[in-house]
Amino acid sequence: MNDRSLAHEELQTVRLSLRRPTEADIDAIFAIHNDPGTCLHNPSDALTERVEAQVLHQRWNDHWQRWGYGYWVVRRRDSPLQLGFCGLKTMELNGMRVLNLFYRFATSTWGHGLASEAATEVVTWASQRLPDLPLIARVRPDNIASQRVAIRTGLTRAEHLDETGYDGFDWIFATNLPG
Ligand SMILES: CC(C)(COP(=O)(O)OP(=O)(O)OC[C@H]1O[C@@H](n2cnc3c(N)ncnc32)[C@H](O)[C@@H]1OP(=O)(O)O)[C@@H](O)C(=O)NCCC(=O)NCCS
Repeated sequence: MNDRSLAHEELQTVRLSLRRPTEADIDAIFAIHNDPGTCLHNPSDALTERVEAQVLHQRWNDHWQRWGYGYWVVRRRDSPLQLGFCGLKTMELNGMRVLNLFYRFATSTWGHGLASEAATEVVTWASQRLPDLPLIARVRPDNIASQRVAIRTGLTRAEHLDETGYDGFDWIFATNLPG
């Protein structure tokens, strides 16, 4: 499905606003991915130079251009400060086209239910707008917080899809798998 009419550049929850990233978010992309705490379980995602954040933003933007959705920047509704990122990337898993759920938040924001709130909104959006696609999260087995977020959004363990990813073995959580 390559439907530009899907483009939904802003979502809102009780506390949060999710918006399509712009170049003005590159500094936040860098700051959040340059913090060793946020990439502890996925070191391949860590950034050491700002230019890498420019490249990453370009990649995120290309996904938006191609598919009409992607990763959103998460802020509180009443603040311009970027708290983190949450969204969907189209990918292949086990020969199936799937939506991969992503979330990464600044360490200073952790523990207040913000990732769960944003990710739940994204999963709800996908179930309404892309109902034919399975949705998964790939989580490192020792990343308990990420597993808790996946479960809170309604995903369940799909052991049969577990596979080795960029940073080692990933546990797969999923919803809307083909029957
Ligand atoms: C994963 C992440 C987004 C969670 O953000 P958050 O806003 O703190 O998450 P929430 O506050 O919504 O908490 C969700 C659950 O995780 C639990 N949790 C949060 N941090 C935890 C920790 N360090 N250890 C164990 N559980 C933790 C919370 O208690 C909550 O559990 P509950 O559902 O039983 O109440 C955040 O830790 C992060 O950005 N990590 C780095 C990036 C990352 O690993 N992304 C996932 C890649 S697969």
